[in-house]
Amino acid sequence: MKLFGNMSIINNTINIGNYNINDLAKEYKTPLYIIDEDGLVENIKDYKDNFKSDKFKTEIIYASKALLNTYMANLINKNNLSIDVVSGGELYTVLKSKFDTSKIYFHGNNKLKNELLLAIKNNIGTIVIDNKNEFDLLEELLCENNIKNQGIMLRVNPGIEAHTHEYIKTTKNDSKFGESIFDINTLNLIKQMHNSKNVNFKGLHCHIGSQIFEKQSFFKEVEVMTDFIVDVQKKLNITIDELNLGGGFGIYYTKEDNPFKIKEFLKEYIKVIEKNISSKNLKINKVQIEPGRSLISNFGSTLYTVGNIKHTFGGKSYIFVDGGMTDNLRPALYQAKYEAILPNKVNLKKEYKYTIAGKCCESGDILIKDIHLPKADLNDLLLINSTGAYTYSMSSNYNRIEKPAMIFIQKDKINIAVKRETYYDLIRNDLVIGG
Ligand code: LLP
Repeated sequence: MKLFGNMSIINNTINIGNYNINDLAKEYKTPLYIIDEDGLVENIKDYKDNFKSDKFKTEIIYASKALLNTYMANLINKNNLSIDVVSGGELYTVLKSKFDTSKIYFHGNNKLKNELLLAIKNNIGTIVIDNKNEFDLLEELLCENNIKNQGIMLRVNPGIEAHTHEYIKTTKNDSKFGESIFDINTLNLIKQMHNSKNVNFKGLHCHIGSQIFEKQSFFKEVEVMTDFIVDVQKKLNITIDELNLGGGFGIYYTKEDNPFKIKEFLKEYIKVIEKNISSKNLKINKVQIEPGRSLISNFGSTLYTVGNIKHTFGGKSYIFVDGGMTDNLRPALYQAKYEAILPNKVNLKKEYKYTIAGKCCESGDILIKDIHLPKADLNDLLLINSTGAYTYSMSSNYNRIEKPAMIFIQKDKINIAVKRETYYDLIRNDLVIGG
């Protein structure tokens, strides 16, 4: 298993920062989400140090759908990043953490009226409009509430369908997000936004996908978007001030993944953006990116305890852990792959092949298929790496299983960001209890 950040092997066992994994299990129980906060902060610094230009302002917006709770929102705020939310719930969480509201971006393809109201009444910096109907609704709400100058951007779809190892340019656009740059009505909408007295139209947003390994996909995105901006300026005589290029930078989960190094990529990315802006004579003032997974995922891990080990009649060996698809849906939903380790057996030979399964009543509840590990025993700890993104945020209470606690580890301190759910939490919204 590849170790990230402050994870290390000391005395044949795993430490995260100054903390031994056995002590963490004893103190906080399992399953447990563990975030290496110092590693995460270092990664944020790498983003800030490398995504900058002297030709335009830059802004790094954390895509909070990857992992969000009030602790995480505070951490993002303290480290001076902006944040994107995609629902009233995410927005509420961020507001509760006393985030600087001017740095909040509100996304989503179907923002509800009450969600838009929550945003405009709290002076959210930017609402990223998905479509014309949403814009009309927003204008109506702004008028009713006598709010002027609400910052907005428009999400457009540049027709780049990015795949893990390639990009293809599609002429037909069927994405549920944004308005296509090939649709003439998109220009009309931009004009309407620019002319509106209720809003401050700042610019354009796009996002081409997630877990993308091919730098060229992102460079193509810059080329297509800046070409589109040239077109907008020519046809509408409107200057586009801000360009948000979204997130999607791929990360390492297993040896099958070959991500680019983020520091070098960001430097190269900036150069490509600078070149496109200057060669096309654009007056873009600010360029944003919106990383989620690549910011947090490698700095999170999930600690489990091994329950049964079953050798099936058919010849398969299972390790059953005390969590599963409820705390990490990604393997079941996307066939996502992870690496794992038995942290107290790091020095032993990996001579057994196991499938790691969760405890849910569902045959698809498999966390890792066919992994080589040392011989596993009852009550061993098992650690799965790189689970920082899209695990807690996609967790569920299927089978009425309580969600794990989440801790953030600093050099000399551990903070519990989210406490473990209790059985009572599972019935807290049930209205009829007892006879
Ligand atoms: N910006 C927008 C508008 C997005 O829709 C997303 C992700 C991001 C930024 C951040 O993308 P990232 O840097 O994290 O790749 N649940 C899936 C991932 C869904 C991503 C959705 N949008 C998974 O577990 O792989």
